[in-house]
Amino acid sequence: ASINVRVLLTASLFSCCPAAKVGKTSLIMSLVSEEFPDEVPLRAEEITIPADVTPERVPTHIVDYSGNSVFTRKRISEKNRRNITINKPANVICIVYSVNNKKSIEKVKIISLHNKVPLILVGNKSDLVEHSSMETILPIMNQYQDIETCVECSAKNLKNISELFYYAQKAVLHPTGPLYCPEEKE
Ligand code: GTP
Ligand code: MG
Repeated sequence: ASINVRVLLTASLFSCCPAAKVGKTSLIMSLVSEEFPDEVPLRAEEITIPADVTPERVPTHIVDYSGNSVFTRKRISEKNRRNITINKPANVICIVYSVNNKKSIEKVKIISLHNKVPLILVGNKSDLVEHSSMETILPIMNQYQDIETCVECSAKNLKNISELFYYAQKAVLHPTGPLYCPEEKE
């Protein structure tokens, strides 16, 4: 069977009003065009990165989940935990927050997915701050075993963008177990 990686970017798994403007769409556009877009649509079209240009050589679909949260209160059934949306199951979810926005960090509310889908915490806009959000993020990492890894990045500086999608591929193809936090690159 051919393997596909389906990455979903969202600001929150579980919230009535997910944090907006954390840079989900910009991250995707920066990855695709290798430059920071001055203007972005609300939502990026779903894109597929062909296998031969990805580090792990698997076709990788990237979904900009800018709707409501992945889960609404009513929909947390066992079925939905396994299939993030009924029509479009994702096999890794990036929960994006903005490192300069405390509220968006607070909205990284996580419910257990029973290890069905690995999660990656993504702190975007690292160009705007001097020091890292890891102090706030590590306790969340420790609390939730579904979190595969965390990364700080900047769509604007193109910092850690390709790494982020590489971690997403790796989380699907070679899960390392909980609590692995890669060191930040220079
Ligand atoms: P919604 O879909 O509306 O929830 O927003 P989003 O999460 O897709 O964020 P979007 O990509 O629209 O970016 C929101 C704003 O943040 C825009 O003004 C971007 O230019 C800006 N932005 C995105 N990424 C970065 C970044 O890495 N650094 C800085 N300084 N600004 C960024
Ligand atoms: Mg958007």
